[in-house]
Amino acid sequence: MPGLIERYRDRLPFAPGDPVVSLDEGATPLVLAPRLSERAGTEVWLKLEGANPTGSFKDRGMTCAVSAAVREGSHAVVCASTGNTAASTAAYAARAGLRGAVIVPEGKIATGKLAQALMHGARVVALRGNFDEALALVRELAREQPISLVNSINEFRIEGQKTAAFEIVEALDAELDALCIPVGNAGNITAYWRGFKELGARPRMLGFQAAGAAPLVRGAPVAHPETVASAIRIGNPARWEEAMDAMSSSGGAVEAVSDEQILAAYSFLARSEGIFCEPASAASVAGLLAHGAGDAQRVVCVLTGNGLKDPQTALEQAGAVITCEPELDAVERAVLQ
Ligand code: F0G
Repeated sequence: MPGLIERYRDRLPFAPGDPVVSLDEGATPLVLAPRLSERAGTEVWLKLEGANPTGSFKDRGMTCAVSAAVREGSHAVVCASTGNTAASTAAYAARAGLRGAVIVPEGKIATGKLAQALMHGARVVALRGNFDEALALVRELAREQPISLVNSINEFRIEGQKTAAFEIVEALDAELDALCIPVGNAGNITAYWRGFKELGARPRMLGFQAAGAAPLVRGAPVAHPETVASAIRIGNPARWEEAMDAMSSSGGAVEAVSDEQILAAYSFLARSEGIFCEPASAASVAGLLAHGAGDAQRVVCVLTGNGLKDPQTALEQAGAVITCEPELDAVERAVLQ
C-alpha cells in the first residue's frame, strides 16, 4: 500500500511532484473486538495505530510534516515529546537525510521510544522538566533558528493525522456513532474531527485523559501532571480550544480515567482480545468501560501506540515466568498446571 500522501493527495496540501518522505504509513487494521463489545454492551471496533512503521499514529502526521520541511528547504526538524513523536521524528528525519533533534522529559519516556530515537540518529535531549516546558522551549527555538517544528502545532501534522478518520469512514461505510480517543496534547482528536467533517461524518467525539493529567476535564492547566500513561502526561494541551470544539460540536464529552482503570483496560485488551497497546492507548477503552458511550450502537476506540514501546510497564503488570529443569516431567507440570 502506498503511503498517505499518495493515497489521499487530493485531500492533502501536496501537489504532484512535491517531495514525499514516506515509510508507507497508514492503512492500519480496524478490528472488531467481540469480548470488549460484550462488556461494553455495544459493538466496538479497534483502530490499531500501533501498526504504523514506528509503532504509533504519529507517523501519519510526520510523513506530511517532514515532507513539507523538505519542500521548504529545511535542514533540521525538532520536537518536544513524551516519546512517540520523538521516535517518529527521528525515523522520518533519517529517511529524509535531515538532522533530527528531540527534547524529552528526563526519565519519563518509555524505553522502546528512547531506543528508537537514539537508533535513528536523532540528537536526544533529556530535559529536567516536563513535556509542557519542553514544548514552550522548542517553540521559542524554532522562532529563532531555521528549524522546522514538527509537534502537532504544525498544521501538516493535523492534515496527515486526519487520514485515520478517512480510513474508518471507508471501512465502516460511515456507520459509526462514537469515537473514543486518548487526549494528551490534543492534536489527534483535532485531526480526527477534521477528517470526519471533511467526509460529512459526525460521530460523537469522546476524549479521555488520565485523571492525574486532565486539564480539559478540570478546565484549567495542570502544573505537575502525573500518570502511568507517560505518553499523555501533559498539563497544558496546545490544541485545547480545537479539542473542546470537537467534543462539544459533535455532542461528545471529555472525561477522566484513573491509572487503575487504564491498566485494567490495558491488561484486558492483551489477554482477551490479543491486542498489546501501550498504556496511554488503553485510556480510550478504559473511558468507554467507565463512562459508556450513551446510546451509541457502534463505537471505534483508537489504540494509538504499540505495547512493545513500553516493556517495563508490561512486565510490571503481567504474570511471572516459570523456571524449569530440562526434564519432560518438569516441563509437563510447568505447561499444564
Ligand atoms: N496516545 C499515545 C500513544 C501518544 O503518544 C499520544 C501523544 C497520545 C495518545 C495523545 O495524542 O497528544 O495528539 O492528544 N503523544 C505525544 C508525543 C505528546 O510526544 O509522543 P495527542
